[in-house]
Amino acid sequence: MSPPLDDSGHPASRVPLDAIDVSDPKLYQDDTWYPYFARLRREDPVHYCRESLYGPYWSVTKYKDIMSVEVNHQVYSSASELGGIAVEDQPKDMDRPSFIRMDPPKHDEQRMVVSPVVAPGNLANMEGLIRERTIKVLEGLPRGQTFDWVDQVSVELTTMMLATLFDYPWDDRRQLTYWSDVAIANVRSPESPVHSEEEKFAELTKMAQALGKLFDERAQLPPKFDLLSMLAHGEATRNMPFREFMGTLSLLIVGGNDTTRNSMTGGVLALSQHPKEYQKLRDDPSLIPGMVSEIIRYVTPVIHMRRTAKEDSEIGGKQIKKGDKVVMWYVSGNRDPEAIEDPDNFIIDRARPRQHLSFGFGIHRCVGNRLAELQLRILWEELLPRYPMIEVMGSPKRVYSNFIHGIRSLPVRIPA
Ligand code: HEM
Repeated sequence: MSPPLDDSGHPASRVPLDAIDVSDPKLYQDDTWYPYFARLRREDPVHYCRESLYGPYWSVTKYKDIMSVEVNHQVYSSASELGGIAVEDQPKDMDRPSFIRMDPPKHDEQRMVVSPVVAPGNLANMEGLIRERTIKVLEGLPRGQTFDWVDQVSVELTTMMLATLFDYPWDDRRQLTYWSDVAIANVRSPESPVHSEEEKFAELTKMAQALGKLFDERAQLPPKFDLLSMLAHGEATRNMPFREFMGTLSLLIVGGNDTTRNSMTGGVLALSQHPKEYQKLRDDPSLIPGMVSEIIRYVTPVIHMRRTAKEDSEIGGKQIKKGDKVVMWYVSGNRDPEAIEDPDNFIIDRARPRQHLSFGFGIHRCVGNRLAELQLRILWEELLPRYPMIEVMGSPKRVYSNFIHGIRSLPVRIPA
């Protein structure tokens, strides 16, 4: 999210190249990641970091190299047993597999079970409801006083969406947000809702038990279009072991929550930092769909995905050994000038705005990408005519994480 930086005088230009470690969550909390990646893309686009908190790993920083890893799932595995999809391994005895952490054929079978919930026909059915709920949240916002956009808009709207997707008891819906926060928490952060992997595991066990009850009830009823009913009736998912059930629920809760939440916040921030673009939008609201994609690129809500090499291979001329961790830094690929013109600028009417890496690519490409775009489009369609100006009143507070590019709070004001 940083504005373009001239990195020539930055400490990032003085660190010895082989000491650069972009896995430090502090870089994302302090929003200082940008110059490190600019340097890596220029000087060492496929970079080996020998020592980090998470052990040795490769950084893939250019758009085209990230794509080459994404499409080669035969060599670059997502499997939980090999370490999964984040630079930090899940502790072995607390492993929670889900289809994002699997390779074919099991990945494909399970993905197919939940895909219909976000198929175009179902999205069209949901549009009216999403719009109605969005309007209600927006009309309830205070005017002339400062409030937190994250809590009152982004979290509220995405929590409502989760409750809809799971057909979860409405009044308890913030419970889903809590579990999502737990699932992505970096237990080393003082702000984390849980402070050890054991505590995280215990809370997610409670989540799986609570949702398991609803799952069992829905298994007895005719199939419906909610995620729990689909999992309960799906051939590939109805008999999942408990750990896998836990992992799958965490995936579906986090997938549809934090990412969209942070795009809702990041969009307001980006527009306030680019007043000319904000004016362009007010002058021509038909730019909203393209702007939504630009927001998702510019924010890059998922910082990285990791794979593990199943055999010796080569990326961008570097020799990768069987067993090596390979990290695709989407924040960097989305700022690669060889793939995206003027990538450091936020341009709401850029050509081919969907050509970004924020949703990944290949067999794991985000299932919910069209739903996320729909939610964001509706938000801006309803926001703009009501409140043509959202003023940002202070700095965003960012999340301590190298995985989810999150904003914890953003003070804003709607002029009275
Ligand atoms: C702006 C919002 C979103 C962003 C940036 C995002 C990003 C991502 C990324 C980067 C991946 C992994 C791609 C890869 O490995 O190649 C992914 C996978 C996934 N996303 Fe999203 N996501 C968003 C919204 C959603 C929503 C709304 C849902 C749920 C309804 C969702 C559900 C999933 C699922 C289930 C997967 C796993 C797919 C698989 O492994 O086959 N996401 N997403």
